[in-house]
Amino acid sequence: MDGTAPSQLRALVTPERVHRSVYTDPALFELEMARIWGRAWIYVGHESQVKSPGDFFSTRIGRQPVVMVRHSDGSVRVLYNRCGHRGAMVVAEESGHADAFTCCYHGWRYDTDGRLLSVPLPDGYGDGFDLSDPALGMVPVARAASYRGFVFASLAADGPDLKAFLGHMATSLDDLVDRAPDGAIALDAGMHRYVYRGNWKLQVENVLDSYHVPFSHASTVNRKGEQFSRREGDRTGAKVVAQKKTSDAWKGRRSYVTGPGHGWTSNTALDDGKRSSPSFDAYRKTLADKVGAARADEILTPQYHNSMIYPNISIMGLNMHVRVIKPLAVDLTEVTIYPVRLLGAPDEFNSRNIRLLNVTHSAASFVQTDDLEAFRRAQEGLQSQQSDWVDISRGLGEERPDTKYNAVGELATHEMAVRAQYQAWAEYMGRTG
Ligand code: FES
Ligand SMILES: [Fe+2]
Repeated sequence: MDGTAPSQLRALVTPERVHRSVYTDPALFELEMARIWGRAWIYVGHESQVKSPGDFFSTRIGRQPVVMVRHSDGSVRVLYNRCGHRGAMVVAEESGHADAFTCCYHGWRYDTDGRLLSVPLPDGYGDGFDLSDPALGMVPVARAASYRGFVFASLAADGPDLKAFLGHMATSLDDLVDRAPDGAIALDAGMHRYVYRGNWKLQVENVLDSYHVPFSHASTVNRKGEQFSRREGDRTGAKVVAQKKTSDAWKGRRSYVTGPGHGWTSNTALDDGKRSSPSFDAYRKTLADKVGAARADEILTPQYHNSMIYPNISIMGLNMHVRVIKPLAVDLTEVTIYPVRLLGAPDEFNSRNIRLLNVTHSAASFVQTDDLEAFRRAQEGLQSQQSDWVDISRGLGEERPDTKYNAVGELATHEMAVRAQYQAWAEYMGRTG
């Protein structure tokens, strides 16, 4: 597959359809690991997960085990989680605190910047053995950088820097973080995790797919879908738009694409002025005291509903969370959902928001479980030889440049954002250098 001609790979995606092998072929999945996950800036974790020197969080970039750790100088490092001796994964815990990392196999010890500190029984090595040889350490990944606490890394030494990669999407992170009265958030309130039997791109497509919402999530968003309120302080149930009929649903919502596969859906006409509860009102006051009433109003009218920074992180503004997508195999994907804690907001407000995610996005939730079932069925259906092609043509030709955002916009119920993701996919995959 590595030797497959770029033109053949690009031919798997056309303006209006995607070849089903893009979801089902293990060889293509291997190539994605190198050409997408080995090149793009991948979200690794949040600085709040490694608050103090020695705090670490282990994860994967594609299938490369890595550990994000705060070093003694206060900086956050991203290291390959691999022993410089005979290759064992050094850090087995998902998170914790360590003054140094010790490999369980033969006891090599590493500083939190990956430098090899000591090896047991050093006399056994010859004169040429040099503890300071970086190749014997836990090697830092090629590039790591952060934006407002969000740590990204790229396994490729070359390519655009993080700022250029994020482009306009940086404002989606701003949109979320600015809601915190202290101007910073923490992803330290636990998480929901599930693994579904489907390709990773099914979840990536889905976060910008407003077409499915009235149907997949009918029990939540239709007229009777008032099982719960989706935001702290909303008076009515889960309805986020006033629907006259299903086909009118979500009509005002736009989606936008920008950069390599990134995009977002605009916020719906949520009536922020009507949000009110003792906890929400206390939060609004705290925010207004910090930033002024006018700015607080602006912040509380978020611009983003869902955003997707391709290929692995999505922010949901409506009921705030950060979603991280990890491919495990061509037909197996892990999704982790982190509730957002707004620093400086009253504890009661934060804890209500966190609890709300149990209802919407836990493994036993009303919303996310609908999507997971759709992903599983999509993966099953794509095994069918009925057709080799998946249709993504909805709204093709109706894309319009949007100068306000320096992006391209379309009705969110159309499939422009999905098409943009596959154009990015073809671009990454068809590039050999
Ligand atoms: S493999 Fe890590 S010390 Fe030997
Ligand atoms: Fe959904």
